Amino acid sequence: MQTSPYTPGEVADSVPGRATQLAFYEEKAQRIQNLSEFIARVRVDYAARGVGKTSLLREAERIFARHGIAAIWVTANQDENLLLTVLDELRKLVPTSKAADVLSYIDSATLTLDAGVVRGAVTVKPKKKDAVTAAASSSKAFIAAFENVTRVLLDEDRKGLVILIDEIQSADKPSLRAIAYAWQEMKNSPSRVPAGLFSVGLPGSQDHINSAVTFSERFDFSELFGLDDGGVVTALAEPAHNLGASWERTALQMAVSEARGYAYKVQLIGDEAWKTAGYPDPGSSITVEHLTEAMPQVEVHMETLFRSRWRSASPKQRELLSTIAELGGRDVKREDIAARLGVTTQAISMARDGLLRRGIIDANRHGRVSFTVPGFTEWILAQS
Ligand SMILES: Nc1ncnc2c1ncn2[C@@H]1O[C@H](COP(=O)(O)OP(=O)(O)OP(=O)(O)O)[C@@H](O)[C@H]1O
Ligand SMILES: [Mg+2]
Repeated sequence: MQTSPYTPGEVADSVPGRATQLAFYEEKAQRIQNLSEFIARVRVDYAARGVGKTSLLREAERIFARHGIAAIWVTANQDENLLLTVLDELRKLVPTSKAADVLSYIDSATLTLDAGVVRGAVTVKPKKKDAVTAAASSSKAFIAAFENVTRVLLDEDRKGLVILIDEIQSADKPSLRAIAYAWQEMKNSPSRVPAGLFSVGLPGSQDHINSAVTFSERFDFSELFGLDDGGVVTALAEPAHNLGASWERTALQMAVSEARGYAYKVQLIGDEAWKTAGYPDPGSSITVEHLTEAMPQVEVHMETLFRSRWRSASPKQRELLSTIAELGGRDVKREDIAARLGVTTQAISMARDGLLRRGIIDANRHGRVSFTVPGFTEWILAQS
């Protein structure tokens, strides 16, 4: 009896099916390590919930570590000033022997920011000009702290420093502005240090960042899709293989068609099949029968997810969700939704944007929308 190697709801141990993204991070790590480059564009990998964003960024963290690059990890949160959190993390990186000199830069940046936060709280709606000035002074102070910490790390034989931000769609706008400003300034600075900034977030990240910063072309947005069949097979077969167990080919085929590329569901399938197969010992395998027995339990977990999405939707959004489901749930035209509801496309745009931002639906280039999680169509139809 061996415990399950699958990770439903937890950061994945490895990220099969992400070769393109990993190659990107590998290349950036090499540039930082070997060429002491400052990576000027801020990366944003975006996708709906449960597609594997956090797991990807954690894997990137391991890649940077292998290249001797220090990293700080922050999870953005609506109620916090992101830049202050970053400064706190920078503080933790400073070795005690060097503390006094460098900490003074961090302290002074923290003070500048705190003042900015207080000002922001008093002025209900800061004028655009004020916002730009605040971003400029926050970012100058931040640059001094960041560059000095990085130089200390270089002295300690580290190759550079990267900032990794999860849930960037929740970052406060003043911090985003200041960070964007800082990245722009550092790129042009003769004293620039080997560094980079990489983030992941929901599909709403793009609009959120665009509305916060004026030169958002500095950001490199890249959509993260579901896993392809090969990725799903590896995600299921490899952890079993590492424990001396295996999946029968037909069971893998069935799992691929059940998971439809959704990473969270892949892990649920692996985990539940592992249980019905009796926690396989080395030499045992998982069969179609085991998987068939496991699927109802997988669906129970998926239903929990569907229910919470449904509950968090407004009445207008629910109306939209039902209509999208009735129209098939995939590549549904905006005009068809409006026609079915007997309204103009304009009338549904707010509800649609809300669902897009939260990654419950996604839209392709032609504005057609699809559900992001397999099975949601069937679940909604079964409710009504
Ligand atoms: N490449 C992958 N292959 C297989 N499973 C994966 C992969 N990436 C992530 N997972 C699994 O998918 C689930 C969701 O992963 P993760 O938490 O990284 O996604 P997320 O996009 O950050 O989700 P959220 O938006 O809820 O934060 C987890 O159970 C994780 O173990
Ligand atoms: Mg996540």
